[in-house]
Amino acid sequence: MRIESPRYTERFGSIRINDVQKVLELDSGRAKELPLHENIAVQKIEEDTIKDLEEQMAIVIPIKDEKLKLFEGVISGIPHECLTIVVSNSQRKRVDRFKMEQDTLSQFCHFTRRHALIIHQKDPILAQALEEGGYTDLLDGEERVRDGKAEGMIAAMFMAMMAKKKYVGFVDADNYSPGAVLEYVRCFAAGLSMAKSPYAMVRILWRYKPKISEEVYFKKWGRVSEITNGCINSLISSKTGFETDIIKTGNAGEHAMSLKLAEILPYASGYAVEPQELVSIFEGFGGVFPMAQQTAARHGIEVFQIETRNPHLHEEKGAQHLDDMLLSGLGTIYHSPLCEEETEQIIFNELLQRDIIKPNEALPKPHLSPPLKNINLTKFAKVMGKNMESYSALEGK
Ligand code: GDD
Ligand code: MG
Repeated sequence: MRIESPRYTERFGSIRINDVQKVLELDSGRAKELPLHENIAVQKIEEDTIKDLEEQMAIVIPIKDEKLKLFEGVISGIPHECLTIVVSNSQRKRVDRFKMEQDTLSQFCHFTRRHALIIHQKDPILAQALEEGGYTDLLDGEERVRDGKAEGMIAAMFMAMMAKKKYVGFVDADNYSPGAVLEYVRCFAAGLSMAKSPYAMVRILWRYKPKISEEVYFKKWGRVSEITNGCINSLISSKTGFETDIIKTGNAGEHAMSLKLAEILPYASGYAVEPQELVSIFEGFGGVFPMAQQTAARHGIEVFQIETRNPHLHEEKGAQHLDDMLLSGLGTIYHSPLCEEETEQIIFNELLQRDIIKPNEALPKPHLSPPLKNINLTKFAKVMGKNMESYSALEGK
């Protein structure tokens, strides 16, 4: 594919945040010797480079009670070379939706000759493996993994580590367009291939996020993302003394990381996970506090933001859902030790204006899970390995 080169980069301590790079063409043809001038503003990422990256990447799909047809479309959009890992928190009681997801994935793997993993978030095997590995933070009082998208993502990252993958990417299960899913993963690969540091992250920005009422309107920004981006930028500006609008992907559900970076970040629960990833990077490597990890600080942390060609079409989940997401996301910024009074005030006023919080109410503090490196992976893998058959959707079945 052909994509804009990172032309503008802001530096914050040992973090390099690249401004948005647009996709120019989804397919840039065969590899050939390029005239030198092609490499200045635009980069051609060869198919082989993309495939090499995809081979080393696990794509995680968190799912909770989504339409099966959407899930089926999403898995069909994931490139063949990636390892698909599905962590489901779908209901099992009235109708066993998880069983339906398992069947769909197994059939897909059978006919496409793939291998994928699918586990239920509440599976006692997963809880036991986490317990053995000493990573008990994800567990509730009943020895099960807590509800929440982030909780599913963390469990899936441990599975990706177990499968010895180098990269992990996340794609939501409620996407209407399999072609968009394919483009996300290609952008993950393209961005990660441009990284000079082994500690890198790619966050997707959609060209459009259409709203459907009487006619389709190609809206660019979602309500939640616009506010979150503004508050994260205010957090950075207050520390550097220079106003910035560099962050345009504060809520990016579709994003990917090298596992080296994923292993050293603390994570917030539920839907606060994406803004917290950036906040964790700023706290750990922005240079305001001591560096969280010396090797990573030496290499630097690279953040890419890539704008896709496909519009993003997903399930609408209502105003209350968006309010909850905004409240928990902004909570990660508000409660960061980096947050100064000015940003606190912006956040509080935003929430007040939207009637999400009352004047004398306190903003809920996010629950933070420790970095993944705190697990004893050998012990986790021992329990998971013994039970592999119960969560493997194998090609041969
Ligand atoms: N495993 C698991 N466990 N998955 C969950 C859970 C859970 O408890 N809750 C939700 N999911 C799944 C959903 O089924 C969906 O596939 C994905 O997580 C995202 O959830 P949505 O409910 O569709 O969220 P959204 O569309 O409003 O917001 C998404 O986009 C935002 C902006 O990019 C999320 O990805 C947000 O995290 C993101 O900030
Ligand atoms: Mg969604």
